[in-house]
Amino acid sequence: MDKVIKYVDENLEKFIEELKDYIRIPSISTLPENKNDMITCAKFVEANLKSIGIKTTKIIKTDGHPLVYGEWLQAKDKPTVLVYGHYDVQPIDPIELWDTDPFEPVVKDGKIWARGADDDKGQSFVHIKAVEAYLKTKKELPVNVKFLFEGEEEIGSSSLETFLKSKEGKDLLKCEAILISDTSLYGEGIPTITYGLRGLAYLEVELTGPNRDLHSGSFGGAIANPINELAKMIAKLHDENGTITIPNFYDEVPEVTKQEKENFEALKFNDKKFAKEYKVAELSGEKGFSTLERLWTRPTLDCNGIFGGFTGEGAKTVLPSKATAKISMRLVPNQDPKKVAKIFTKYIKTLTPKSCKIKVTEMHGGNPVVVPLDDKAIVAASEAVSKSFGKKTVYTREGGSIPIVVEFVKQLKSPAVLMGLGLDTDNIHSPNEHFSLKSFERGILSSIYFLDNYSK
Ligand code: BES
Ligand code: MN
Ligand code: MN
Repeated sequence: MDKVIKYVDENLEKFIEELKDYIRIPSISTLPENKNDMITCAKFVEANLKSIGIKTTKIIKTDGHPLVYGEWLQAKDKPTVLVYGHYDVQPIDPIELWDTDPFEPVVKDGKIWARGADDDKGQSFVHIKAVEAYLKTKKELPVNVKFLFEGEEEIGSSSLETFLKSKEGKDLLKCEAILISDTSLYGEGIPTITYGLRGLAYLEVELTGPNRDLHSGSFGGAIANPINELAKMIAKLHDENGTITIPNFYDEVPEVTKQEKENFEALKFNDKKFAKEYKVAELSGEKGFSTLERLWTRPTLDCNGIFGGFTGEGAKTVLPSKATAKISMRLVPNQDPKKVAKIFTKYIKTLTPKSCKIKVTEMHGGNPVVVPLDDKAIVAASEAVSKSFGKKTVYTREGGSIPIVVEFVKQLKSPAVLMGLGLDTDNIHSPNEHFSLKSFERGILSSIYFLDNYSK
């Protein structure tokens, strides 16, 4: 083991340089103009797997962005771990708020700054480097390892879902545990295993008033303004207690158990510190629940964007023809994103005034997940992160979503180990994304210890 650890120590600079090259590829999955970058990025991941000694690799074409696969299966009678990560990243706008070029990584203050530094290039790369450390020193791994990197996580993972449901996919990805680093630590330096993620239902609501933009003086007061009306409709989606008003919305939402309430309390979440970090005067949300309960166990509804009319500089007196809102709901077990999208659509239609027409479009979604903590793989992971960070492991749920996790668990009938390494303050999906190099190193060691623990 010492040799393996020593290799990490001696090669950390090299690993960081490779990560920088990986980050330089602008693999924004949602933008059509980056389609070729997605291919370049997939090839980069495959080449890196080859360079560490993974001989069997392939790029799997899909209707969307390619999947990258690699395997090392020479550990006889040992379990197989599937390492999953995503090589796609979110768009970089608003670009003017970045202190440095989003695709030219900079190392500063012990962190690497760039789009994808945390989510998920930096986090997922640790497992490739952990395997490298084994293969370059011991020429073998303690367990069998399969790698699967996708390029559509940020847009709903539909190609991977299709692949996973096919016989080919299920056979290829067969494993005893799925290892994922794409979540957060509970705090800096705190070893964390996450056992729950929220799901997601995402919709677009378009409201049309008059058939064309009108002069707001000649027509304002006589013809409905779709922006005004849409704002009223959105406001009605919550009551004064912060509860969502969609009928039957909470039907499947389980009560927080006493045990879980106690576990959350033991985490000593600091509301004041949290509010201060994000410069808000106070926290808000559904009445009657603690902050961690609201973030991890309760569903939410948020307007992610709203547009229409005149949004440029200066002033234009216009009564717009259209208004659009992007609305998403974070879901908890056992809510079904498709069903939630249906009841949302039905309800928002009833809120529409006669003066406007409504069009609702369902976008991507994802299922919520909670995994049992007593699985052998999760115990091995918990001990591994504790050893690497030198502290007792804490168990968290998360407010974010990784839609494919449920599909993995369902199709492969294996537990998902969520060994997150990011921090909530890393600015993922936001300007100035960064990732701690200390977490990067600890992550590599965690992965090394995990593979070893899990083989026993
Ligand atoms: N890595 C995140 C999910 C995440 C972030 C989980 C922080 C826990 C803590 C992932 O890349 C992500 O952004 N997921 C999307 C999914 C959506 C686009 C379907 C999300 O949660 O918004
Ligand atoms: Mn991610
Ligand atoms: Mn993301």
